[in-house]
Amino acid sequence: MTRNTRAADPKTLERLFGNTDSLLPLWIAEPNLGLAPGIVTALESRAAIGWYGYEMRPRSVLESFWDWMSERHGWDGTGLQASVSPSVGTSISVLVDLMTEPGDGVIIQPPVFTDFKPIVTSAGRSAVRNPLILDGDGYRMDLGDLESKASEPNTSMMILCNPHNPVGRVWTPPELAAVADICARNDVFIVSDEIHADITLPPHRFTPFATVASATGVGWAAAHGPIKTFGLAGVCDTLLITGDETVSNRFRSEASRLHLNRNNAFGVAAFEAGYRTGASWLDGLLELVSDNVTLLRENLPDGIDLIEPEGTYLAWLDFRRLGMDVPELKRWLPETAHLALSPGHWFGRQGAGFARMTIAVPSSQIEDAIERLTQAVSTHGA
Ligand SMILES: Cc1ncc(COP(=O)(O)O)c(C=O)c1O
Repeated sequence: MTRNTRAADPKTLERLFGNTDSLLPLWIAEPNLGLAPGIVTALESRAAIGWYGYEMRPRSVLESFWDWMSERHGWDGTGLQASVSPSVGTSISVLVDLMTEPGDGVIIQPPVFTDFKPIVTSAGRSAVRNPLILDGDGYRMDLGDLESKASEPNTSMMILCNPHNPVGRVWTPPELAAVADICARNDVFIVSDEIHADITLPPHRFTPFATVASATGVGWAAAHGPIKTFGLAGVCDTLLITGDETVSNRFRSEASRLHLNRNNAFGVAAFEAGYRTGASWLDGLLELVSDNVTLLRENLPDGIDLIEPEGTYLAWLDFRRLGMDVPELKRWLPETAHLALSPGHWFGRQGAGFARMTIAVPSSQIEDAIERLTQAVSTHGA
């Protein structure tokens, strides 16, 4: 069966890349693979019931999330509240409305996931940039700059991407503790987007922001759910976790006011099936992603450098040695390399000269992408 994916939709490709001719689409952050069989079976069984009215969400759904978190990440939900939210973007938008005032500053760490800035600015708040630093050891946070941005009187929130899309960092406990400490001292509320939590490559391990926050007293909430882990963005809800009952109650009453909490029958089925049955499928995915990282590391043509990912199924590629400016690289990728990648400037001006490649795909597609890049580089500047 042909998959009706947005990544390969000709109209979308035409609009974003100006060309659909034999493009290999590796630009959306989701797996393009057969999904976990337990999820497919659960969806088929739910469809077979032939009744699609108002749906309940049994307690077992949330329990499946906490069982998963405690088994995979050693994180139990003691003392935490979890609220259902249709998407990560919804959760962050609602929190921006609730926890900040118009005109306030919200810190983001570019190059970073494209939705953060428009969520902030469309709410009449300003995006305060605390750019990541790239040096010989990879990307790290600029904690001095974070301290100074957090201490500005209007700054009231920070959106953290943990693990980080697109640079692939899996933040360590000391890094997260430093962020928590700075934000606690400056009364900045942290929203930790942890939707890539399950995608970490050994030896790196996901650290829930919750586990470092409590020692500092910082206000926080974290976005979770199975949408990235199992490729369920087209069907599943997400969760908003917090340790603060007031934040949780305010979030729930706003979600209720906006009628955001209707249960989707298929979403409920897929959510629990993923967490209950998807562990070995995910282990396979992580092995595939590691293999694809190795392929890129060993075979990218001279001129293109891999920023070694610690997590996510996204490869952040550095094209700067090829000497193209933003419009040139944006054209060169689809027109010369025949690749639909997310050009780095989509993630902020700090991404200029880079591009993001989705690597949760069969290795044959990564080999194909490497060949296309090798061919394109061989004619570059000729
Ligand atoms: C860091 C991050 N947050 C959020 C999302 C999207 O979540 P949603 O579609 O639930 O808003 C993505 C998708 O790529 C992402 O990478």
